[in-house]
Amino acid sequence: MIFELIEQERVRQREGLELIPSENYVSRAVLEAMGSVLTNKYAEGYPNFEGLDGNDDEVLARTNEGHRYYGGQENTNKIERLAIARARRLFHADHANVQPHSGAQANNAVYYAWLKPGDTVLAMSLADGGHLTHGAPVTQSAQVYNFVNYDVGADGEIDYEMLERLARECRPKIILVGYSAYMKIPDFARVAKIAAAVPDCLLMADMAHVAGLIAGGVHPNPLDSGFHVMTTTTHKTLRGPRGGLILSRGKVSNPLKKPERTLENIPTLIDRAVFPGTQGGPLEHVIAAKAVAFGEALRPEFQSYAQKVVANARALAEALRVRAFTIVGGGTDNHLLLLDVMSSHGIDGKSFERALDRIGLTLNANAIPRDKRKAFAPSGVRLGTPAVTTRGLDEADMVTIADWLQRTAKLCAGGGDEAAYAALRDEVQELALSHPLPSDN
Ligand SMILES: Cc1ncc(COP(=O)(O)O)c(C=O)c1O
Repeated sequence: MIFELIEQERVRQREGLELIPSENYVSRAVLEAMGSVLTNKYAEGYPNFEGLDGNDDEVLARTNEGHRYYGGQENTNKIERLAIARARRLFHADHANVQPHSGAQANNAVYYAWLKPGDTVLAMSLADGGHLTHGAPVTQSAQVYNFVNYDVGADGEIDYEMLERLARECRPKIILVGYSAYMKIPDFARVAKIAAAVPDCLLMADMAHVAGLIAGGVHPNPLDSGFHVMTTTTHKTLRGPRGGLILSRGKVSNPLKKPERTLENIPTLIDRAVFPGTQGGPLEHVIAAKAVAFGEALRPEFQSYAQKVVANARALAEALRVRAFTIVGGGTDNHLLLLDVMSSHGIDGKSFERALDRIGLTLNANAIPRDKRKAFAPSGVRLGTPAVTTRGLDEADMVTIADWLQRTAKLCAGGGDEAAYAALRDEVQELALSHPLPSDN
């Protein structure tokens, strides 16, 4: 039964096109690592963190020790050391913790590493593009810590003046730059300057959406501009397995010994906050898949992939603009777009999402800044180009997609016509089937 459902999902993915900006298609190698016998293995603890500079062979030759609570780690230690070494290389980090099970776990571990209950975090509001884990009242972290929000201005940029004023007033212990629906490039150096005036303030970037663009060299790296910590998911633009990753700058030491609480010791404070602070046994099959994905992202082809993701997003934005779609912030500098379909076509985001599901194009309904509508039927949709670019689609295909979006919006606004939806579905399927999933190759 489950096997059949997985096969049906494979067909859905083959025959449709994925426009959700937080999704991607992994390689066969990543998929196989995830579905491997490593899932049988417990490996609580960490491998040795010494000698992680240099290439893979050098890293493996140096040591295979670890601080683990179970035997039989001769392979898992090597795999996790390679995952850490590759992540450090990819993101210019002093340290990488590859164990977080997800992006949410990664963020919670950083909060737990640095904050005491009641401490203040300054983060982008959910309504303006921040993530749930940045202090939405429904989350556990919002019950424990005090989140204060900065907004995005009318120009679509972070309101840096507001951020500076709030930093002065609230003296946050963490300033967090990160988002799930923001189309500009943050000015990390400006935020670092603001934070320098706040004592004991950790600079944290949640780059879950753009980590692949950073790895591909088309987006600045916050760790290069004075940020202490960068969290990310590994499954979005980075094109790895579902999971989390924490990169940091500072002194790396033995995670068994509790270090003094200083910004310099943040790598070890984070290791202890991941295990045993907030997680048990790491998912070594996922860590292996992360290592494979980081290896793929270190190749020159990944740079050209990242460039194409951004070029496709720009082409899609332009094609949508000339088709009268309202683009929040006027365009995009990264991989994602937010459309206000209520103002342009008089339809809510959820109805548009459902209409597009019928033709095999997948995106998600999303609130727009200062949205007056309810969360389950907001004014907008969010879409992006990481997955379709992996399938090999180019800028001319973005015009075709914009055309399908326009025709579907008209159908949706006009009540729908079964035959017209079916015709559109055939067109989408033809393009999709001519670009196989990477795991089908
Ligand atoms: C900015 C940001 N942080 C964290 C997360 C959470 O990641 P996960 O779903 O792996 O917990 C997401 C996922 O959408 C995200 O966009």
